[in-house]
Amino acid sequence: MLSIKNLCKSYHYADVRQDVLHQLEFEMSTASSVALLGESGSGKSTLLHLIAGLDRPDSGEIDFVGYRVHSEPEPVLAALRRSQMSLVFQQFHLISTLSILDNIRFQAALCQRFDNRYEAELIGRLGLSDQVDKYPHQLSRGQQQRVAIARSLLHKPQLVLADEPTGNLDENSSLEVMGLFSDLVRQAGSSLLMVTHSQAMARFMDRRVWLHNGKLEEAG
Ligand SMILES: Nc1ncnc2c1ncn2[C@@H]1O[C@H](COP(=O)(O)OP(=O)(O)OP(=O)(O)O)[C@@H](O)[C@H]1O
Ligand SMILES: [Mg+2]
Repeated sequence: MLSIKNLCKSYHYADVRQDVLHQLEFEMSTASSVALLGESGSGKSTLLHLIAGLDRPDSGEIDFVGYRVHSEPEPVLAALRRSQMSLVFQQFHLISTLSILDNIRFQAALCQRFDNRYEAELIGRLGLSDQVDKYPHQLSRGQQQRVAIARSLLHKPQLVLADEPTGNLDENSSLEVMGLFSDLVRQAGSSLLMVTHSQAMARFMDRRVWLHNGKLEEAG
């Protein structure tokens, strides 16, 4: 599903070159989940951006469901991101002028994938049934997080990329929601690559990998 070979990415700042990812290799199979661990500044977000095609590598290959993400033209990448990926960030990026229901439907509507039964199930399981007519500012942070999760899954993407999606919520409620998130991802048949600093969170995933010195190591 996702195969990364010999991936290199460096940044240049003043006259200094910093190799962030160096000959990195990574494989992820369909319907699997991986926790991406690593120290601050090790390149986790950089890797997610490259996989999403939001940035280009210096060299190396990223193959995702038959697409060559490292070299496809931007319109192809945009369509691929829209229909086969979703991105969940620490900031939930809900759209303030849209109702909760329309926020949840946002990406599914963009790729014209509608599934009323699945929508009702997601909303129910995430405890959002009484919230759908409200607007983002009327929800708690935890509820906003669950809206972002519903939005990321309704179109049943092949891959969910999550960068510390707990948004500074307290550890206990985050753990509960992340348990539910990984359940729902599994049920959707999607794969999940999630950056986290929490070992407890990482235990919900099938695999844990550690980004260190520009490379990934399997972390047991
Ligand atoms: N646009 C950029 N220009 C220059 N340097 C950058 C840029 N983006 C990231 N970096 C550098 O690349 C390194 C990796 O950054 P990245 O954001 O991927 O780390 P991270 O592992 O996600 O860290 P954190 O856990 O703090 O989010 C850092 O040293 C950062 O300063
Ligand atoms: Mg980061």
